[in-house]
Amino acid sequence: MSAPRGQWNSKIGFIMAAAGSAIGLGNIWRFPYVTGENGGGAFVLFYVIFVVLIGLPYMYAELALGRATQQNPVGAIEKIRPKSFWRMAGFLGVITGVGILSFYAVIAGWTVAYIYKMFVGQVGGFGAFVADPWSEISLFALFVALTSLIVQKGVSEGIERWSKILMPLFFILLLALVIYAMTLDGAGKGLEFYLKPDFSKITGRTLLAALGQAFFSLSLGMGTMITYGSYLSKNDNLVTSGVSVALFDTLIALFAGLIIFPALFTMGKDPSAGPTLVFVVLPELFAQMPGGLVVGALFFVLLTVAALTSTISLLEVPVSYLIDDHKMDRKTIVWIVAGITFLLGLPSALSQGASEFFSNFGLIPASFTSADFLSQMSFIFGDIALAVGAISLSIFVGWVWGIDKAADEVEKGAPLFAKTRGLWKFIIRFVIPLVILLVLLNTVHIF
Ligand code: TRP
Repeated sequence: MSAPRGQWNSKIGFIMAAAGSAIGLGNIWRFPYVTGENGGGAFVLFYVIFVVLIGLPYMYAELALGRATQQNPVGAIEKIRPKSFWRMAGFLGVITGVGILSFYAVIAGWTVAYIYKMFVGQVGGFGAFVADPWSEISLFALFVALTSLIVQKGVSEGIERWSKILMPLFFILLLALVIYAMTLDGAGKGLEFYLKPDFSKITGRTLLAALGQAFFSLSLGMGTMITYGSYLSKNDNLVTSGVSVALFDTLIALFAGLIIFPALFTMGKDPSAGPTLVFVVLPELFAQMPGGLVVGALFFVLLTVAALTSTISLLEVPVSYLIDDHKMDRKTIVWIVAGITFLLGLPSALSQGASEFFSNFGLIPASFTSADFLSQMSFIFGDIALAVGAISLSIFVGWVWGIDKAADEVEKGAPLFAKTRGLWKFIIRFVIPLVILLVLLNTVHIF
């Protein structure tokens, strides 16, 4: 028997926590730079299609698996098929959590620094800032420590409290910035790049990037939603909760693009600049806005909180696995995983100019992503590992656990789901594995 599990204090608590996990640097930092690298409009279109057709239905599969088994990703699989090789799919999730956290917390460290930089009006100099090894390492360490402190306190106190007030505020601030961005000189050109699909730019890589971004942004493919689902009660409506989470998450990403691309074209910058894109463009935008530095500071405070609610969910996956499986004390586990994450993340922290070796790592061909270690980690864990995780888990739910048991679980607390049940079963069993497989094969083919 496993220890009694925490539960969300309210339904809105779950939505806020799941939305808090989903909304983060993926929306504001990753989405715009990956859109820029992949040529704009057509990528955005595929991203939205993947969110609706694959991401949302898949999210129900993870949530149902978590709620039905009341377990972490490995434990959930173990409970349904003990001692089978399927548990590797759960392990992959645990490792992916650490992998993503290791580079994500580096970027999150930048957002913390920019709160200060906005206050003192230090707008430029991004290149020199990220190339300084000591500030990179300390900010990264600070963020891992901050995340660990909260996760150490356990589920409902730690996670819910933060998300409830600040996420809606973030949404409103972004909306205001979108309206402001529309008044910029480069708005027309920016919107054209961002929203007008140029299908000649679609390649296998674009599709993988769009699929990967859909999973990354919704926190799918590594069992986050299995873990979060395990804290849900049987009366909660998975279906409507999932829709709210996906809707907010996608809107916020789309807002970020509506801010960045008009600004970028106004400043005459290159959309395919890679992971540094947002940090170069946004501070300049704030600097030229009336009263912009205060707005900028507030923006980076909220982005830091958004990042924190995401890193919490990333750390919670390996931690809940180790607690359930090894009956270890939460505190000890949190700091062990934090230590491993820190070591794994050092190369990423040094990859933006501090170390020549890690800045031009180049293991993954340049046709996929930039050569710096951080981008490569983002590609390996954020695109490939999530896609492989999602394909394994949807096959597990659709074919091994039994699609009807899964559908029954989704239907608990969501009676109207009965109407779309057939379609959902078809998507989980056939559409998702096939689409992901085709996208991955296409990628291998390019390799
Ligand atoms: N979705 C978060 C973001 O967009 C990042 C994240 C948190 C994540 N947990 C995850 C990504 C699990 C993939 C899987 O910022």
